[in-house]
Amino acid sequence: MKNKYLVTSALPYVNNVLHIGHLVGCLLPSDIYARFCRARGRDVLFICGADEHGTPNEIGALKEGMPTLAYVDKYRAMHEQSVKDFNLSFDLYGRTHTELHEKLVQSLFTRLDDAGLIEERISSQPYSVDDKMFLADRFIEGTCPKCGFASARGHQCEDGCGALLDACDLINPRSVISGSENIEMRETKHLYLKLSAMQDRLREWIDSRVGWPKTATSIANKWLAEGLHDTPITRDLSWGIPVNKPGYEDKVFYVWFDAPWGYVSISQAARPDDWQTWWKTGNDCHYAQFMGKDNVSFHAVIFPAQELAVDNNWKMVDVLKAVNFMNFEGAKISKSTGNGIFLEDAIKDAPADAWRYALISSAPETDDTDFTVQRFADIVNKDLNGMLGNFVSRVCKLCEKNFGNKVPPFKKGFETPIDAMNGHLAALAAALDACEFRKAVEALRSMWAIANEYMSEKAPWTLVKDGDPSSPGGCAEARMEQAGAILNECFQMIDFFARISAPFIPAASEKMRQIFPAAKLDLSWPEKYEWRVEDGTEFIVPENLFERIDDEKIAEMTGKYVKK
Ligand code: MF3
Ligand code: ZN
Repeated sequence: MKNKYLVTSALPYVNNVLHIGHLVGCLLPSDIYARFCRARGRDVLFICGADEHGTPNEIGALKEGMPTLAYVDKYRAMHEQSVKDFNLSFDLYGRTHTELHEKLVQSLFTRLDDAGLIEERISSQPYSVDDKMFLADRFIEGTCPKCGFASARGHQCEDGCGALLDACDLINPRSVISGSENIEMRETKHLYLKLSAMQDRLREWIDSRVGWPKTATSIANKWLAEGLHDTPITRDLSWGIPVNKPGYEDKVFYVWFDAPWGYVSISQAARPDDWQTWWKTGNDCHYAQFMGKDNVSFHAVIFPAQELAVDNNWKMVDVLKAVNFMNFEGAKISKSTGNGIFLEDAIKDAPADAWRYALISSAPETDDTDFTVQRFADIVNKDLNGMLGNFVSRVCKLCEKNFGNKVPPFKKGFETPIDAMNGHLAALAAALDACEFRKAVEALRSMWAIANEYMSEKAPWTLVKDGDPSSPGGCAEARMEQAGAILNECFQMIDFFARISAPFIPAASEKMRQIFPAAKLDLSWPEKYEWRVEDGTEFIVPENLFERIDDEKIAEMTGKYVKK
């Protein structure tokens, strides 16, 4: 069994305001997986951070009238706040605009160049005469030659048909900076990475992958079938990593050339002394990457091809977890249309655990899914509040009232259905190892259900009533003892649930753990159902673990988020 686990979550563009789609797409699944691995005693390095280069930042900064760096800092601070708010347990939420990152990317570029994998080519690029600059990627807009959408970007018809474009094919092109249509094609030189030379090695590597989701393998195979094309890795921009080659002083690397290496440079920043033990030892580390489906080609093809090309023993991805898109109330989540729930608002409506659980229960693992306010409320009310929260509070209150604040003695014969519990536990662990989150939630919920059935079947409240010595009928003592034994078992389940729920709902799990303030119970992952709570252990009645989302709240959220 490997003990080193490297886990990365796609680095969100810093100019995007994070929304529930980011949370469900990679931040949350990666966090659940990393927490699960740590709880099992694995040596985890869990990395994410802001992807800070690319034209949207320069454009955003221009629009807000501030220097690009200040703009990037402002938005990164918001991301960092969300990372805290939602309890995302990265070893570091870093960034790509750092010296470490620049050094790394430049040195890798030199290796590629020395290996003969970089080529200079002259090409024609749109040049804005009025702005006196070349218009890379999003700096130019025009009508899409494929679908007629009026605001296609230079590199892609992003909000239209989605096609990748060549800026020189745009109809009626204009500069995004000045709006000027005085644009001509001018020659400029750029550096290309000779991906075509990597075709065979990449094919061999892809063929050796096991357990990748079909979408990832099919995207990779499609690229390989078409043949890898050499690709330009430089841009005529000032924001980005400077190209360290004479004659290229006024150019930077293309954002997708540098961004994936952020996983490495952020690891270097997080663990300056031993980052290599994850990244360079080759086989004894297990590497899982999490991303949305639009990122797959970069992670399954381009980044691996770069890693192979620089040829110095970089750890390559083992598990590539890509999810589909989540829509909100029937439409795409988007900053520009305002449809969706943005993380800074979400946290004001409900605590992190509620979002974490409701979202991962709705993860778009097999298809695109639609998330709604009603669905959110239903899941929180039914599962979290109805099943887990009520169970915990009933047990604690009933016990306190009848036995005081000490866990009554265990008694053989009152165990919960252990085989069923262990069966679901095995299914839960297997699902988490396989990064199948909806399956994992189902297994978890099945265990909460067992606890609820146990409680209603054994009905300890009737026993304590009958066991009351002032009530008529004999065997009062025996009945109290039985009620105590049942409650003891319920406390065992609370401890068990705290451990297995922790990757999903860490704050509630911590509250469950603190029900036994003096007992030294950790939240390590159980290999099987266990009885760790000793007779007589002191307990407290916790505040409610969850709050119902009532009709008034649903109406309020609907009013705020659902566009008429
Ligand atoms: N910034 C990209 C996005 O949000 C993801 C970059 S992932 C990385 O879609 F690996 F390149 F960092
Ligand atoms: Zn189009």
